[in-house]
Amino acid sequence: MKKHLLSIDDLSVDDVETLFATAAEMHDVQHRQVKKLPALRGRTIINLFFEDSTRTRSSFEIAGKWLSADTINIAAKGSSASKGESLRDTVLTIAAMGVDALVMRHPASGAALQVSQWVDAAVVNAGDGTHEHPSQALLDAYTLQRRIGPLEGRHVAIIGDLTHSRVFRSNVLLLTKLGARVTVVAPPTLMPSGIAAWAAEAGFATSYDVDAVLPDADAVMMLRVQRERMSGGYFPSAREYTVGYGLTRDRLGVLGPDVPICHPGPMNRGLEIAADAADAAQSAVLEQVSAGVAVRMAILYHLLAGEEAQP
Ligand code: NCD
Repeated sequence: MKKHLLSIDDLSVDDVETLFATAAEMHDVQHRQVKKLPALRGRTIINLFFEDSTRTRSSFEIAGKWLSADTINIAAKGSSASKGESLRDTVLTIAAMGVDALVMRHPASGAALQVSQWVDAAVVNAGDGTHEHPSQALLDAYTLQRRIGPLEGRHVAIIGDLTHSRVFRSNVLLLTKLGARVTVVAPPTLMPSGIAAWAAEAGFATSYDVDAVLPDADAVMMLRVQRERMSGGYFPSAREYTVGYGLTRDRLGVLGPDVPICHPGPMNRGLEIAADAADAAQSAVLEQVSAGVAVRMAILYHLLAGEEAQP
């Protein structure tokens, strides 16, 4: 594996398979009473979060702790970043303390790549603006594989606010790398401009019509409507969004009972996903969270303990 995990493009198919194999072993640790492995003893991991987060941050923190690393969280609110310190100064200050890995989330696309050029530590991109969120895509694909088996040739529908979604970008890269057939669905106003060229090159499909795509899907991935990143009116009303693009109770009825429903969280219940769908037996939402810890353990393990080391 490369030194940093900034993008799904940093990973070969072999790397992904290795990560998934390690994650499966780590997953077993989660069910033990004593959830500690000595693998990263003496290593220091900093979670540097310039955006709000519940699951990603706590998931990386737990992952580091279960591998016996010392993990420290720094949030932009409450750090000197809120006193006007530049990102470079913040990061160099942290790096000067002797840090082995920096897990970072930042509202600017490209921030993690930039930081990786300033520090010696391994940098993990935990979400950079609307660009990428590779650990999320890895945990999504890992969860789907456990549910429906190898993804080669399977049809995954990704539905929602594509324009603002780093989860969608990382997922398209990973799912197509693994040979899945991907269709992305959004209203025209939330379909990223220029997507046709990317879709043609990467070999995925785009659609404005959820109801045409759902009956043929082997897995469904719903995305949050990211109001905090919206500057204007992208749709007339919440009700209209739900009618056009939400996974409603009616649409749930169209899916086969074994078709997993994923959502990276946080969910807007009643907007992009109905409670019936979020809580359905086929919903994989909480499995994603639990797999997230195992997958992040695997990521930290391979970045910090190296290729040769055996879990
Ligand atoms: C996603 C994110 O922050 O990019 N959530 C997450 O990591 N669990 C998606 C979102 O915020 O909608």
